Amino acid sequence: MKALVLSGGSGTRLRPFSYSMPKQLIPIANKPVLEHVLDNVRALGVTEAGIVVGDRGRQIAEVIGDGSRLGLRVTYIPQAEPLGLAHCVTLARTFLGDEDFVMYLGDNMLPEGVADIAQDFTAGRPAAQLVVQKVADPRAFGVAELDAAGQVERLVEKPQQPRSDLALLGVYFFTSAIHRAVASIRPSARGELEITDAIQWLVAQGAEVRASEYSGYWRDTGRAEDVLECNRRLLESLRPGIVGEVDSRSELDGQVLIEAGARVVRSRVEGPAIVGVGSVVEDSHIGPGTSIGRDCVLRDTRLADSIVLDGASIVNVPGLYGSLIGRNASVGTSARHRLVVGDHTRIEVAA
Ligand code: DAU
Repeated sequence: MKALVLSGGSGTRLRPFSYSMPKQLIPIANKPVLEHVLDNVRALGVTEAGIVVGDRGRQIAEVIGDGSRLGLRVTYIPQAEPLGLAHCVTLARTFLGDEDFVMYLGDNMLPEGVADIAQDFTAGRPAAQLVVQKVADPRAFGVAELDAAGQVERLVEKPQQPRSDLALLGVYFFTSAIHRAVASIRPSARGELEITDAIQWLVAQGAEVRASEYSGYWRDTGRAEDVLECNRRLLESLRPGIVGEVDSRSELDGQVLIEAGARVVRSRVEGPAIVGVGSVVEDSHIGPGTSIGRDCVLRDTRLADSIVLDGASIVNVPGLYGSLIGRNASVGTSARHRLVVGDHTRIEVAA
């Protein structure tokens, strides 16, 4: 089996981050979402992965390289415009050949893996094996209607009036039957070739399309709130350790990882929390639920439930929580509020 991992798209819901980096590279517990995805793919025994990339493909290639670090052989498949998930399958036709494959959306986090679903697929080899989960508001997702035996009866992409509460997760197993389906559909109202429509085409042709309900944790990391929630969740299973330095006046409490070259001085770090490679935390109180990337500086600061990306500095801010701080960003205080704010940024100052 091969893997097709989708990492193009525009990521509008993750602005301003997606202006300068692909959303699939946002770190969760200090590891890019895409790497979490590729680890899950590798855990299925897959060794050949095609990654569809858009105009930020170069940044993705800089991080993932040829895949050997992750035990994979990676082929990059460029997509000039985000014309839809089914469009990605047509672009990957040569890479995929007639093999079975898992299609995995590069922004979907399933930390418990997808081995059980892969087993459901290989046991019966239906034309498509989908994964669903009950959600409170299915209107943001593809929605499936199933019969009692798990056979898919109908699929609709982001319906205004959903007829079921079962959302499609971003992991799909296909046989080569999907290639005729993607060639047979037309673009949707939003101008995309929808994989949901291609699978509905298979259903209408009488092909076997099955869905398993996923009981594990799942998040589409399309929005900042989901990224932060997922970070908190992953940190719960953090393996603690001190590789960097912690001075005698500092206190670590709970699951805390201090990475190589990091320094914690006169501070309290409350787990679960990670202080990344080369970062400095001084006279501060960090965590719980916090991931600090590489080469950051935090001084005289109180920070919880947050992600700080590489190279950021936070100085003299006593009450930060639920925050996502971008690469090389600098956050500080002054007597009045003075802001240099990028497009589509969200700021909340104390009233
Ligand atoms: O997360 C699950 C949902 O993912 C499903 O319930 C929906 O049925 C499915 O259509 C998809 O919806 P999204 O609106 O969340 O898809 P998004 O545009 O965020 O794209 C998903 C991934 O695929 C993301 O990593 C970007 C990539 N992508 C997207 C498009 C449209 C591409 O590589 N190329 C594309 O043309």
